[in-house]
Amino acid sequence: MASRGGFNSRIGFIAAAACSAVGLGNIWKFPFEVGNGGGAAFVVIYLAFAFLLCFPVMVTEIAIGRKTQKNPVGAFTALGHKNWRFIGILGVLAGIFILSFYNVVAGWAFGYFVEMIRGNFAIGAHFSDFITNIIKVGGYGIVFMAATAMIVSKGISGGIEKASKILMPTLIIMMLGLVAYSFTLPNAGKGIQFYLLPDFSKITLPVMYRALGQAFFSLSLGMGALITYGSYVSKRENIITSAVYITLADVGIAFLAGLMMFPFVFSQGIPPTGGPGLIFVTLPGIFGSLGSTLGVIIGSAFFLLLSFAALTSTVSLLEVPVSYVVDEIKIKRKVAVWLVAGLVFILGIPSMLANGYSDFFTHFITYIGAEKATDFMTFISHVANETFLPLGGALIVFFAAYIWKKENLNKEIEEGFPGFKGTIIERYIDFAISYLAPLVLFSIFILTVLDRFFGVHVF
Ligand code: PHE
Repeated sequence: MASRGGFNSRIGFIAAAACSAVGLGNIWKFPFEVGNGGGAAFVVIYLAFAFLLCFPVMVTEIAIGRKTQKNPVGAFTALGHKNWRFIGILGVLAGIFILSFYNVVAGWAFGYFVEMIRGNFAIGAHFSDFITNIIKVGGYGIVFMAATAMIVSKGISGGIEKASKILMPTLIIMMLGLVAYSFTLPNAGKGIQFYLLPDFSKITLPVMYRALGQAFFSLSLGMGALITYGSYVSKRENIITSAVYITLADVGIAFLAGLMMFPFVFSQGIPPTGGPGLIFVTLPGIFGSLGSTLGVIIGSAFFLLLSFAALTSTVSLLEVPVSYVVDEIKIKRKVAVWLVAGLVFILGIPSMLANGYSDFFTHFITYIGAEKATDFMTFISHVANETFLPLGGALIVFFAAYIWKKENLNKEIEEGFPGFKGTIIERYIDFAISYLAPLVLFSIFILTVLDRFFGVHVF
């Protein structure tokens, strides 16, 4: 283990894995998914999926990683099932695809930090100008990818662990403050009602589909990010309690983000269905309303922290392909990091152009049977988040339950949790990974492929 490095402490691993989970998915994506999904009903379904379905997948990924101490591809070989290493390859590809567009949005967040420092609170109204300013978007994208690469090249305890331990608490405190402020605004009550009072008639199949996708993405599952992080964890670690903390932190921060956003959105009279622009359009005006000094301080701090939250996620996204290249192709870590980062950045260029700058990438693809074209960024997120992740997740749990075998998984979990055998948690996890998770996730994969790529709209 010494040669690969590892986490120095228990809290270090939990913090790092939680920081992988907490990112743009929670603060940028979750509120607009809730907004589009009809509000509180979405939140209820999301929570149910996070604990009932995603949690067992998380435990499985961490256990596979710790058992094998390998990257997601090597892990399958190490367990004696070389034929299943394609699952890891899928994960490496998913990581590369997700990072390519995630880095673009992370660059926007960082760009907003700079705008807030300049006191440019009007930027919210000019969001679409901002994202079509290719010099800015490209520049921030380079800065962001380089920062990610620098942390990853420093290795596990030096880079990832240190950064995570400081950033997470700061983010939580900052958000609590913003939640408190949002409650004082006019119409805050309406926002909270929208967010917290479920209208159960809104629970439809499409809402369930989106809620599960959101939970899965937000918890960084299905691509081996947690196999990779698990591979640096010591045998003394209790995987179950670690996974509980990681899930609680992730869900908790998404929940806080919603609690902050909806009063803001309703106080400004903006429709909650604003989509990916929601936080970028809504928040600057709110910060401006705090007055110029306070607005600059709070606004820039917020977007800086959002950038940091994104950074700890981009780090885990990059770590997956890098650990693969380092372990399997045996290239030096530093070289591997910059090589992969460069490649992913280039792959991200179409996503940068896809928000209005280039007509070709903005109206990139018309799915068979779809009414309208989809921009490249949405397209690649369909491929990665909605196709590769559920497929990867289904395969990982299927593999653990039937190929590697449940008993071996349970034995691995018992290390660090001696009383695990016979508990209700053990029985539930066995059930979830044998039936519930593979079935649901595989169905999601099929539905996506039919709907997105073949124009067969099941719902
Ligand atoms: N979970 C991260 C977020 O919510 C994104 C991510 C997905 C990171 C998959 C790693 C792997 O922002």
